[in-house]
Amino acid sequence: MNSVVTGLGAALPKKIILNNDLPDSLNTSDEWITQRTGIKQRYVAGDGETTASLSVEASRKALAMAGVSPNDVDLIIVATVSGDYTFPATATIVQRELNAKNAVAFDVSAACSGFIYALDIADARLKLAKNKCALVIGAETFSRLLDWTDRSTCVLFGDGAGALLLQSENSSRGIQSCILHSDGTGIEYLKTNGGVSSTKNVGFVQMNGQEVFRAAIEKFNDALQELLLYHNMTINDVDLIVPHQANSRIIEKLITLSGIKREKVLITVDKHANTSAASIPLAMSELGCEIFKKNNVVLLSMGAGFTWGAALIKFNTNLE
Ligand code: UT7
Repeated sequence: MNSVVTGLGAALPKKIILNNDLPDSLNTSDEWITQRTGIKQRYVAGDGETTASLSVEASRKALAMAGVSPNDVDLIIVATVSGDYTFPATATIVQRELNAKNAVAFDVSAACSGFIYALDIADARLKLAKNKCALVIGAETFSRLLDWTDRSTCVLFGDGAGALLLQSENSSRGIQSCILHSDGTGIEYLKTNGGVSSTKNVGFVQMNGQEVFRAAIEKFNDALQELLLYHNMTINDVDLIVPHQANSRIIEKLITLSGIKREKVLITVDKHANTSAASIPLAMSELGCEIFKKNNVVLLSMGAGFTWGAALIKFNTNLE
């Protein structure tokens, strides 16, 4: 049995903030942000828009694409670090709103790598026949974790959600493998300066950008090489890479180091900024049904912790 992607969907808040719309008090510029990050704009959640509401909208689109009823969904995982409540899990709110009463629902916290971590758990449960139909969602309202007076972080992030519907299928397509890694010695480089148990609040994002930048390049490439080796593939066998969208310069380095053709790498950071766990499924959703015309699609992530990982999904084995 394989876990096959049969639907995908995305949701973005209504409000867009262009680089030029950022307040003068931040003392930043479109030129600095574009040159250093590739970001041109970010979506920011307004009143009534939450991680759960964006997750629900993205999930409805994924279900509609697959033609699947919420009744058939038996697993919902939301990867997020900006859930609606400290508890219960945002996934349970999604379950209630979708009326997916047959699902088991929980959240996964692995920062920007959360989506690949969630995908791995869902894939394992489907392969073990514990579930048959899973919504795997990456969703964030990261803007609510930002200190909007700190130009070194607030210009970098945005909000959004992406959802994949996975179904058990007796076929060679679907998720081939997920590779996960963590290194807790990286905690201090990217974290919030608060949390329920330490400060009784959620805190704001703090980052040592240069250390994270260096680590991201190294971890992206390590995970990609590990995945290729495991599957006895070369970079030429890869049809599409969907990397976590944090900085276009990190993605450019990945292109140089790996030798992948530029047109095989999806870049959406200009439009979405860094949406943490949402970035990979949001980027995939930008392709819509086009993604089903590719075969070997590689997902790559790196985030706070540090956490990093890779996944190989075959969408169209007829091309082999
Ligand atoms: O999602 C998890 C993964 N996250 C990432 O991968 C993020 C990784 N890091 C990065 O993307 C980059 O390190 C940043 C975009 C965060 C920063 O770029 P950088 O080229 O590493 O810049 P820097 O931190 O070395 O700062 C250079 C200068 C500093 O000024 P001085 O000290 O040289 O005078 C900063 O104060 O740029 C200044 N600066 C800004 N200037 C204008 C920092 N932020 C801004 C800003 N606008 N928004």
